[in-house]
Amino acid sequence: MEKNINIASSEQNILAEAGYGQAAIQYFLEKKYMGSLENPSCVSKKVGSCGDIMKIYIKTDDSDVIEDVRYEISGCAGAISAAMATVDLVRGKTLDQALNIDDGHVFQRLEGVPEKKHHCIQLAVKTLHQGVNELKAAKQS
Ligand code: FES
Repeated sequence: MEKNINIASSEQNILAEAGYGQAAIQYFLEKKYMGSLENPSCVSKKVGSCGDIMKIYIKTDDSDVIEDVRYEISGCAGAISAAMATVDLVRGKTLDQALNIDDGHVFQRLEGVPEKKHHCIQLAVKTLHQGVNELKAAKQS
């Protein structure tokens, strides 16, 4: 148990030194929206230019309100923290409102990420938008 606490605090220190904000660090350590959803309304996958992979599961109700979202990620701390923050920004929103979420909103929520990691935020947002657009297209057909 104590070993786990030490690992968490050393990861915390390394991320803080690298320029991650406290909120970003918490999102990365907790990973509370990591995984899949049963009976999702849509599943979508995106590969970043860096090769990192994100898969998003979105569940909506009958009024197109997003009830829940999960991400499966093979990627860096920036990708994980950005995806987790994105979920907090879109839960309870409509699909159209979710399309208005942009990199700036996620960046603010994270309270900072290193400059070299800004594309990780873009990957989380692009994956969200791709999933929402696929879901909207499926509903219209
Ligand atoms: Fe690829 Fe962060 S390095 S998403």
